[in-house]
Amino acid sequence: CGIVGYVGKEDLAWGEHRAVGVVMGGLRRLEYRGYDSAGIALLGREGINVRKKAGKLGNLEDALTSNPLPSAHVGIGHTRWATHGAPTDGNAHPHLADHGRLAVVHNGIIENSALLKRQLEAAGHAFSSDTDTEVAAALLADAYRTLDPEVADDRLAEAMRVACAKLEGSFTLLAVHRDHPGLIVAARRNSPLVIGRGEGENFLGSDVAAFADFTRYAIELGQDQVVSLTSDKVTITDFSGAEIQGQEFHVDWDPSAVTKDGYPSFMAKEIQEQPDAVRRTLQGKVDAQGRITLADTDIEADFLMGLKKVIVIACGTASYSGQIAKYAIERWARVPVEVDLAHEFRYRSPMLDQHTLVLAISQSGETMDTLMAVRYAREQGARVLAVCNTPGATIPRESDAVFYTQAGPEVAVASTKAFLTQVTAVLILALYLAQLRDVGVGAEIGDAVEELRGIPEKVKQVLASERQIKDLAGALAGAPAVLFIGRHVGYPVALEGALKLKELAYTHAEGFAAGELKHGPIALLEPGQVVVVIVPSPIGSPILHAKTMSTIQEIKARGATIIGIAEEGDSVVNTWADEVVALPPTHPLLAPLLTTVPLQLLAAHIALARGMDVDQPRNLAKSVTVE
Ligand code: G6P
Repeated sequence: CGIVGYVGKEDLAWGEHRAVGVVMGGLRRLEYRGYDSAGIALLGREGINVRKKAGKLGNLEDALTSNPLPSAHVGIGHTRWATHGAPTDGNAHPHLADHGRLAVVHNGIIENSALLKRQLEAAGHAFSSDTDTEVAAALLADAYRTLDPEVADDRLAEAMRVACAKLEGSFTLLAVHRDHPGLIVAARRNSPLVIGRGEGENFLGSDVAAFADFTRYAIELGQDQVVSLTSDKVTITDFSGAEIQGQEFHVDWDPSAVTKDGYPSFMAKEIQEQPDAVRRTLQGKVDAQGRITLADTDIEADFLMGLKKVIVIACGTASYSGQIAKYAIERWARVPVEVDLAHEFRYRSPMLDQHTLVLAISQSGETMDTLMAVRYAREQGARVLAVCNTPGATIPRESDAVFYTQAGPEVAVASTKAFLTQVTAVLILALYLAQLRDVGVGAEIGDAVEELRGIPEKVKQVLASERQIKDLAGALAGAPAVLFIGRHVGYPVALEGALKLKELAYTHAEGFAAGELKHGPIALLEPGQVVVVIVPSPIGSPILHAKTMSTIQEIKARGATIIGIAEEGDSVVNTWADEVVALPPTHPLLAPLLTTVPLQLLAAHIALARGMDVDQPRNLAKSVTVE
């Protein structure tokens, strides 16, 4: 979901369609975040006009073409990812209140909306949608009405502060009112919002992509703050009305980086960018002596040396990089590691203290579940290190230290290159911890560091198998379900392979630990069932390889079809599998950097063969800013 706001001067020379152009352009830039309906409100001399449509932005654009809005110099726009109420025209934002004089867009979830709605209904309010947003709009209208019109200039902002004080949960709210032409008032709690400063015009966006085409000067809006935005003034207060100086920053990534560059999709481009993304993430982390340095990551060596436990918190794809971290940190640094889905973490009474390092892994740095887990961990006294791909996002801002992955902007909703850089980051971190704590695996560490440096080249070699995988995808496009199994670090890779296939192709897919197959999932096997097996190296991990071969026999005996993702020259797997994708050899703990890539390609090509939109799969959002 995404939010855009724009305030220009009434007599702006750039033409009368500036507001609609900027807002729609901003919504396009935020499309990658995922949504299922969209809407816009323009505030002009004659008041507020709204258009909103279920489905893709194209539907809204068509509505604006067939039924154009009168010119305006203020606009707010929204792409909605349905939470309260189905993705219909009616539930799309903006929502109106005060007899159409007030329009509101909202991201997040207002957790006490049911109670507030009952109170407002009792006071005579009628609602026309199922959304919690309309409740916020009504509350704001109520607060506005009861305020003294004498506070004219600040009346809408004051009403926003009064309304926000009654809201629970997470929200970014933008409001315009017909009695305040030239003004947007916005507020945020938990959900993200940034301000863009232009000349004679100002902007708001869920992230800087919304306005980076127009200005690179941005201001953070902090937690529980309200901003009043006119074409030449930005006034920020806290919820009690005290004025606050916003943190200014310069947007230094180039939005032109966010184009498909001739690729058919962002997903195709981002998969191909992986060798460079991994190389950039490694840059500056290995010195001339082959030692890992984390000089730019603000975390004290003393703390790391006294560390008693690591807990990884993350969601979705990022959580699988966390599982890989567990194998690497425990093996190399001999520190116990727990891995938790961020939304489970807080509710299990985890044991943490000042000797615990919490690793919060998040591509976007905005995932609400992960953010809440970060806050909880810090309250409990743990130190939080964020592994994040988005400079200046909320999670790194609220953490004690940050390791930025260098994947560059990831636009396709399902994560690919960001995952590979997360794996790279946790491996670097594990090696760094091992180096610091010197637990007697020195030679292995040296080898692994050396191997890591050569990984980008090997990822490139794996990408060369795309033709083979595309043919395979053609044959699998009609499969009703695909199983993925792996051992050791191959297990999280199997989970990621299954998740990619679900996300992109809507094919039912499950990932299992290979050893677990015989304890239940084996009942699913029959002729025609496809099982993708992540095979450990016969040389690097002979024991795991042998065990995996036993599993392959069990699958074969039930007549299922086996696709092996295996090291080149693995003659055993070649004998038993129906098809093998061969990968260059590497260190066993580095294997996910290679084995994941064919699974990404497989999911993307099955999705394409099935006619799916690989960049924006249905129902998914890139950064889920609700809990
Ligand atoms: C969403 C996305 C997933 C992603 C997850 C975590 O659910 O659809 O692709 O893995 O969020 O995102 P994060 O930005 O925290 O890594």
